[in-house]
Amino acid sequence: MPCRPQRSRRFWHSLIQSNEEGMQMVTEMGKTFRDVQVLWLGPVIPVLRLVDPAFVAPLLHAPALVAPKDMTFLGFLKPWLGDGLFLSSGDKWSHHRRLLTPAFHFDILKPYVKIFNKSVNIMHDKWKRLSSEGSARLEMFENISLMTLDSLQRCLFGFDSNCQDSPSEYIAAILELSSLIVKRSQKLFLFSDFLYYLTANGQRFHKACDLVHDFTDAVIRERRRILSSQSVDEFLKSKAKSKTLDFIDVLLLAKDEHGKELSDEDIRAEADTFMFGGHDTTASGLSWVLYNLARHPEYQERCRQEVRELLRDREPQEIEWDDLAQLPFLTMCIKESLRLHPPVIDLLRRCTQDIVLPDGRVIPKGNICIISVFGIHHNPSVWPDPEVYDPFRFDPENPQKRSPLAFIPFSAGPRNCIGQTFAMTEMKVVLALTLLRFRILPDNKEPRRKPELILRAEGGLWLRVEPLSSQ
Ligand code: HEM
Repeated sequence: MPCRPQRSRRFWHSLIQSNEEGMQMVTEMGKTFRDVQVLWLGPVIPVLRLVDPAFVAPLLHAPALVAPKDMTFLGFLKPWLGDGLFLSSGDKWSHHRRLLTPAFHFDILKPYVKIFNKSVNIMHDKWKRLSSEGSARLEMFENISLMTLDSLQRCLFGFDSNCQDSPSEYIAAILELSSLIVKRSQKLFLFSDFLYYLTANGQRFHKACDLVHDFTDAVIRERRRILSSQSVDEFLKSKAKSKTLDFIDVLLLAKDEHGKELSDEDIRAEADTFMFGGHDTTASGLSWVLYNLARHPEYQERCRQEVRELLRDREPQEIEWDDLAQLPFLTMCIKESLRLHPPVIDLLRRCTQDIVLPDGRVIPKGNICIISVFGIHHNPSVWPDPEVYDPFRFDPENPQKRSPLAFIPFSAGPRNCIGQTFAMTEMKVVLALTLLRFRILPDNKEPRRKPELILRAEGGLWLRVEPLSSQ
């Protein structure tokens, strides 16, 4: 039986607004319709919104070719990200995914913890200067995304742009590209490439793409030059001294089972994709966890005690790789925040064949589906009192019987987030040091959620930070 909307019960005339009212509307909708909802794109195109773990399983676990990403909006990213992992499909995607998986191995990630410490220290020095009067009111997304970009640029390219303290053209171009994509997706008539590139914003997009590509190309050329002047062994030995292998080196050295390497164009696409996929998402995750802890000082204090205990008698106070497993409560707080405020709220898929749902209904071939991460995370059948911030839902001492798909901030299945360990590591380091050094307080006004490429807040997410005297 095809999955047809029952008009009297499951019928909404328009897609949801991208603002607080829209977020409240989907929350209300989720109280009644707890598995599949139908939205209408115009009068004739149904879009299914799936909000139950059992109902998203056939899509998330399907081979990547059966439920590929829908490219209507994602196509806007193509001139920037090319055929990187995020946008590619079919054989190219599976080949590259296999080649790139080792780049996120623990051995590669471990040395990046030092980089995370360094980047967050720079941000905190700035916060301390700004709060010399006792406290400062700061916009979190702006501050934190500069810091995550700083980290990524160091991890990927081994490049220190000093972007947190003085403007960097490259970082400004990435921020501009992300904001131009959001603006474009809000205007239907700009969906045509021809029209878009005639507009001033289209020209700016083009220019910013060139600038970002030129930077990545220059790094690749320089690394290729070094590699051609020495053997791979010598190259690795020289790298071993600094104990850090930049992502770009891993990409340059990657070979498949037939000894085939990635082309320069492929490497550029993957590097640009990591910069895109890794900065805003992690900044959103961190901004919202600070917000949730500002609203729950009792959990904030408990995290702080955990970090103080861990770093007791340690100088300098730096988080190391082995510490990450010693912060169980802080980890619970991050996970609960990723549930309540998932940075990526929806995953868009288009079915290339009929897909059978657990209740026997069928999603017809060609249908667009929204796997709603937000909807699942707020589904009252899965999470009792879903709007309450309660880190104990993730208490490892008291494991709950839940579907593994009940919590999917990094998606799941073959196209899940390749950077999730990187992101969790960075978030733990940043949160631990932030709570050690600052008290985080809510702003007077409640933020209004704003889903764009990632979950933001309208006009920014403002919090107050107060340096702690012992630091
Ligand atoms: C809190 C931080 C992060 C969140 C919440 C997040 C979330 C996600 C999600 C939900 C997807 C699936 C998207 C889809 O299917 O449409 C994804 C894919 C991806 N993410 Fe992340 N991500 C985060 C951090 C990172 C980082 C740090 C990197 C890289 C350094 C990264 C790189 C990627 C890439 C390359 C993909 C595409 C994977 C593929 O299709 O094979 N992400 N991410």
